[in-house]
This record gives sequence, structure tokens and C-alpha cells, in this order.
Amino acid sequence: MDKIEIIGGNPIEGKVNISGSKNAALPILAACLLTEKTVELQNIPNLSDIHSMTDLLRSLNSEIIQGNYLRINCKVPKYKVASYDLVRKMRASFLVLGPLLTRYGNAKVSLPGGCAIGARPIDTHLFGLEKMGVKFEFNNGYVIGESKDGLKGSKINLPIVSVGATENLIMAATLAEGETHISNAAIEPEVSDLCFFLNELGADIKGIGTNYLIIKGKSKLNGGRYKVMSDRIEAGTFALAVLGCGGSIEMYGINEEIKNHFLKIFSKLKQLNFKYSEKEENLIVKNLGGSYPSVNISTAVYPGFPTDLQAQLIAVMTKADGISKIKETIFENRFMHVQELARMGANISLNGSVATVIGQKQINGAEVMATDLRASSSLVIAGLMAEGKTTINRVYHLDRGYENLECKLAKCNLSIERK
Ligand code: UD1
Repeated sequence: MDKIEIIGGNPIEGKVNISGSKNAALPILAACLLTEKTVELQNIPNLSDIHSMTDLLRSLNSEIIQGNYLRINCKVPKYKVASYDLVRKMRASFLVLGPLLTRYGNAKVSLPGGCAIGARPIDTHLFGLEKMGVKFEFNNGYVIGESKDGLKGSKINLPIVSVGATENLIMAATLAEGETHISNAAIEPEVSDLCFFLNELGADIKGIGTNYLIIKGKSKLNGGRYKVMSDRIEAGTFALAVLGCGGSIEMYGINEEIKNHFLKIFSKLKQLNFKYSEKEENLIVKNLGGSYPSVNISTAVYPGFPTDLQAQLIAVMTKADGISKIKETIFENRFMHVQELARMGANISLNGSVATVIGQKQINGAEVMATDLRASSSLVIAGLMAEGKTTINRVYHLDRGYENLECKLAKCNLSIERK
């Protein structure tokens, strides 16, 4: 099993290309099931989560050719079944439910089950689809959905804000009969990217970027070409690494909305200077030097502080000037990095959903274990900030969501290597 070895203590200096967004690419790939025509996608990152989704599409009779673009043609599958073996690897596989139901009227999708960062139920997905006329039953760990007369547009007020449920319902609504209104929809930029892609294929989605979406169902969608947005979580991970290690980094392919989002969520961290060059869509993040302050932050839905950057922020706060309080409000069990950071000498205590981090002058390298995707990048940042050598085991978690992270960092004057 691969490991990553880091010798910490150097500042970051360099340029990196930000990869295509995993969380935008996954629903967009699932959305290809909505059309019989060929779709060409650009900027799809090379990640194991993406391979899990393309394996799932292939199992549903899709042809996928990898070139400059990923060319996808989703033919009618004999069985509309997403098997346990494919869905258990990645929860986002559940995103094929909406497209299969709306295109074929029936689908059988394995329940994604629990997950290292919390229970992560799917009740909101099913609530919305039921409003559109789908009847569900559960059998042997599968959700079996059917709508004999096809899906019908409906008014859906989501009881909670869910990125995945919003995406499943948007996709389902694009081929439903009539108009669907989704209120309390998630407004994450990845949801908007899915909507832009679907409109490119001929869907009619209005209210993009707001929490009230209106979708006029079409009888068919076309093929098309689309470039997936850049990964804001990858970019945020680099920005936090700059704060923790010092130095500066220039990132390519960041759109201005994401830059403004960073300015807002990192506003209390005055040592981080963001400079944006619109012409090349690049963002230079510089550490102005000196000690950096502790923070009191709660994770929140967009445009709040993303839960997907919480673990990385905790790593950085282990060396902040003062005591940080970081509250996790989205996932109940997303603190598995804490005990690994403690192995590196970090002083963190947990009380329910709040981590209290007492900043100190130094943390030390150690052998640690990655437990989930963002916990992995938190340990990478901690390793870069620590004195001495850190070895991170189980880095397959990192490969789910970061494209060549160690190579990108190694090019930025850092000592990091995969073994
Ligand atoms: C997506 C992202 C993930 C990110 C999360 C929150 C992808 C592939 N993953 O996950 O990286 O951390 O958004 O920004 O895009 N919930 C329910 N019932 C449901 C659905 C969700 O109770 O039917 C709860 C979840 O347990 C969680 C909260 O709602 O507590 C938010 O989850 P959701 O927004 O759905 O996250 P995902 O789409 O799974």
C-alpha cells in the first residue's frame, strides 16, 4: 500500500494548476445518463472517485472513451441496476438514481450505507423523488424506485439543505413532465456547474446559483461539450498550506467567484494575501509572514466555511497564535484526523461537534494514518508544517479526491514523496 513521506519545515514557493472539481465532475458524469447522445467533457480530474463513477456508467451500458475530452455515450442498459459492489466504494454513486428514474421510469440502486464521516442518510433524495411520483421499496440493501407513468414536475421544499439531494432532483426534473420548483436548494458552485452543463444539453433550468430553482422538463436532452469548473477545495487546501508553511503559491484556473469566496472565508486570517489576475484566471496566495491568529469558525453550507476544508484548517491552527474553536455543523463524525494530529504533538480536544485547538510553536513528524479524504490532506499539511519526518499510511483516501497532490507540492520546493 502506498505511503507518503514528508520532511517538513520548508516554505512553499511555486505554481500549480488546479484540477477539475471532483464534486462537480461526479454529478455531471451521472447526468450523462439523461441523454442518448454523445457528451464530451473537459477538465475531468484523474481520481479514483471518478473511476468509480465511470465504472458505474460502464456497468449501465455506457461507452466511454478517454482522449483530450472524455467522450461518453450512455446507451439503454438492460438492467437499470447500480450494484452494491460499485456503490459501496463511493456515496456519490447514489446520484445515478434521479437520472435512471427520469429516463426509464425504474431503477434499483444499492443503499450507500454509512461512511467514515457520519451516517449520511438519503431520505431527502427520496422525499423529493416521491413528490415527483416515484414509489420506493427497499429490498436486500437496495432502493427500488418506480414511476409507471413517468416523473411529474412538482413543488419540492427541501427539509434540509443537501448538495446531493438537490443534484439528484435537478437531474430528475430535467426530463419530468411539467415544471419542478425546488426551494431550499443547495447553492454550492458545483450545483450551479451541473445546471450550466444540463442547460448546455438543452435543459431549461432557471434560478441557477439561488436556493429556488425552476426546471421545465423536456422530452429529451441533446449531446454537448462542457468544461468542468476547477476544484475550489483543492485550491483552498493549497491556500491553507501557505498559511501553515509560509511562502506563496500561484494557482491557475480559479474563477473569480471562488476567489471572492476565499476572501470571505479566510477574511480573519490577515497573513493570507490574495491577488487575482483576471486575464489568466490565476490567484496568487502569499503568506505575509509572522505568527497567525487563532480562529473561531463554524462550518456551514455555501458561502460559509466548507466542511471539506475543516480538517485542513485544524491542521494549520495547531501552530496558530492562541486557541481556536472549530465547530463542525454538517457531518457529525468528521474529526478522525484529530487523533492522528495528536500523534504529531498537536494539542486538540473534542467536545461534541467542537474542536478546541491550542496553538503551539512546534509540531513534530510522526507515522500517521489517513482515515478519509480530507483527513488525508490535513495530515499532508501537518507533515509539511512539522519538524522532521512524517509518514502517512493509507493514502488511497487521498487519491479519491486529489490529483497528484504530492507531485504538485514537490514542485513547490517541498520535500514530499510517494513510496
Ligand atoms: C457533498 C460533497 C461533500 C461535501 C458535502 C457538504 C459531493 C460528491 N460531495 O456531499 O464533499 O462535504 O456535500 O458540502 O459533492 N443529509 C440527510 N439526508 C439526505 C442527504 C443529506 O440528512 O438525504 C445530511 C447529511 O448527512 C449531512 C448534510 O445533510 O449531514 C449535508 O449533506 P449533503 O449536502 O447531502 O452532502 P453530500 O451531497 O453527501
